[in-house]
Amino acid sequence: MAYLGAAYLWVKAAHVIFVIFLMAGLFMMPRFFVYHQETTPGSPEDKSWIARETRLLKIILNPSLVLTWLFGLMLMVEIGAWHFGWFHLKLLFVLGLSGYHGWIAGYTKKLARGQRPLTDRQLRMLNEVPGIAAAVIVIAVIVKPF
Ligand code: HEM
Repeated sequence: MAYLGAAYLWVKAAHVIFVIFLMAGLFMMPRFFVYHQETTPGSPEDKSWIARETRLLKIILNPSLVLTWLFGLMLMVEIGAWHFGWFHLKLLFVLGLSGYHGWIAGYTKKLARGQRPLTDRQLRMLNEVPGIAAAVIVIAVIVKPF
């Protein structure tokens, strides 16, 4: 349903801008977690990391996720994307990435409560998830292999 007219490219630009903010936050946060976990719960450093993580989540990550979805869905309607295989693949990985975002929000709260459920090694391995997902998503949307 072509309804955006000349605004189509502006919406696409806005989509990619918020994708960049979102990905930057998703890459940064597990790094923060690794440094945060080295602090003693209740210490001044612990409190600084809690403040930093809460700010990153509230000011960058959450708004970027909402706006990426909003502009992405507008593009989807515009080009009738749900008819294409590449879009189904993209959506699958975008849903995975949104789940990863949810995990990040949950882990931020656990650290703030003084819990440290994962090891540094596990956090570093989880940090590979957004890079792999972004690669699949970008190939799906640009190469459109099917
Ligand atoms: C949140 C749900 C999302 C939806 C519903 C969505 C949907 C779309 C649609 C329909 C397009 C237009 C494709 C075209 O014009 O051919 C698009 C473009 C794009 N999307 Fe998304 N997207 C989402 C999230 C993401 C994410 C997480 C990434 C990257 C990690 C991403 C990267 C891109 C890029 C790079 C383009 C521009 C492709 C071009 O130059 O034609 N999108 N998106």
